[in-house]
Amino acid sequence: MENNLPYAQSLDAQDPLAPFRNEFLIPEHKGSQQIYFLGNSLGLQPRRTQARLQEVLNAWAQYGVEGFFMGGQPWLQYHDTLTAPLATIVGALPHEVVVMNQLTVNLHLLMVSFYRPQGRRRKIICEAKAFPSDQYMFETHVKHLGFHPEEVIIEVGPRVGEHTIRTEDILQAIDQHKDELALVLWGGINYYTGQLFDMSAIAKAAQAAGAKVGFDLAHAAGNVPLQLHQWNVDFACWCSYKYLNSGPGAIGGVYIHERYHHDPEIHRFAGWWGYQKDTRFLMQKGFVPIPSAEGWQLSTPSLLLYAAHKAALEIVSEAGWDQLQQKRKKLNDWLWFLLEDLEKATGGAAIEFITPREETARGCQVSMLMLRDGKQLFDQLTAAGIMVDWREPNVIRLAPVPLYNTFEEVWRFVDTLKKLIEQQVK
Ligand SMILES: Cc1ncc(COP(=O)(O)O)c(C=O)c1O
Repeated sequence: MENNLPYAQSLDAQDPLAPFRNEFLIPEHKGSQQIYFLGNSLGLQPRRTQARLQEVLNAWAQYGVEGFFMGGQPWLQYHDTLTAPLATIVGALPHEVVVMNQLTVNLHLLMVSFYRPQGRRRKIICEAKAFPSDQYMFETHVKHLGFHPEEVIIEVGPRVGEHTIRTEDILQAIDQHKDELALVLWGGINYYTGQLFDMSAIAKAAQAAGAKVGFDLAHAAGNVPLQLHQWNVDFACWCSYKYLNSGPGAIGGVYIHERYHHDPEIHRFAGWWGYQKDTRFLMQKGFVPIPSAEGWQLSTPSLLLYAAHKAALEIVSEAGWDQLQQKRKKLNDWLWFLLEDLEKATGGAAIEFITPREETARGCQVSMLMLRDGKQLFDQLTAAGIMVDWREPNVIRLAPVPLYNTFEEVWRFVDTLKKLIEQQVK
C-alpha cells in the first residue's frame, strides 16, 4: 500500500462495490458531500427508502385495513421479506430471527425468557461500561425481580492501564462464578472502544458453566460476520439504525435459538402478534405461540418501519454479504495502514488508539484517545466536512463503512488530521 491520493483513487477504481455509494443520500457540507464516518451511530438513508415507504402508504390509501391481505406486498407476509436477509447477516436460521420493537425493549423481553434465577444461580456477567441503556436495563430488571443489582450483576472490565477487555479475563470470570451464574449477556462490539469480542468463546464458556448466553449486537449486526446459530448462542438482539441503515429509531431485530421455539419451560411476555398464525384471528383465550422466533412478537407490526428496513436490506443483498465483508476488511486495513503512518509521523504523542489492531478484534469502528486538545481537532474536522463523533472525555470515534464510504475519503480524513495535528504543534 502507498500513502497517497492517487493510490487511494486506484483502490476505489478497483472496488466492485463502488456503485453502491450512489444508493445512498450523502449529506452535504458547504455544497459538497460530507465525509460521513458516522455509520456506527446512524447509517445513511438509502435513496429507495422513500419509495418503499410510499408503497406502504399507497396500499394503506388504496386498501385501508385490507392492505394486510392485498396489494403487491400484503402486510401479513411483509415480515418474511426481512428475516431471510437478516438471517444471513447474523448467521442464523431464518425462523430464528424476528423483527420487532427496539433494542432496549427487546433486551428486557429477552431477559424475561432467558434470565431465570434459581436458588444460588442468579448472577449475571456483563461488560463493565456497557452502553448506558444496557446498564439501566440490568439495574431496573433485577430490581423488578427483587434483587439488589450489586449482589447479582458482575461486571468484567479492562485491567488497570488497559482499554480493552481480555478474553481470558471474561472466561476466567465465567469459570470463577460457574456455580452461581444464571446468564452471560455481553456486547458483540463495545460502543466506546470498538472492541469485537470472541462471542464463540464466551458462548462456549457460559454454557459450560450451565448459564444462558446472549449478545447485544447493536454495533456488530451489519458490521462484522456473525454465526449465532453455529456458536450455539441462546439469544441476541440488535438495532437497525447503525450499520443496517434503516433510519432513526428503526425497528430492531432478535435471534432466538430454535431449541427454545417449542420449549414450554421458556417464559415470555406475550401479545397477540406472537400467537399461532392460523388461529390468531379466532381471538381465543390462552396463549399459543408461533413455534419460531416470531412467537416473541407482541404487537401489530410497524409497517412503515418494516418498509425502511426492507429498503436497506435489499441493498445489502444486492451488494452481497461476502463482498461487503471483503470490502470492510480492505477499507479498514487501509485506514489502519494510514493511521500507523500518522502515528509514526506524530511520534505517538497526539493519539492513542484504543480499538484493538488485530483484524479479528475489530469491525468498522476505530476509537482514538486524543492526547492533546482533541476537542479542537474534532471541531476542525467537522468544520472541514469530515463527520466523526466525540465521546467525553477525549475520544474520537469513526467508522468507514463498505456500502457508501470510499478509500479516498479515508485517505482525506487521515491527511487532514495529520495536517491539523502538525498545526497544533507549531
Ligand atoms: C450497545 C447498545 N445497546 C443499546 C442501545 C440502545 O438502543 P435503543 O435506543 O434502540 O434501545 C444502543 C444504542 O446506540 C447501543 O449502542
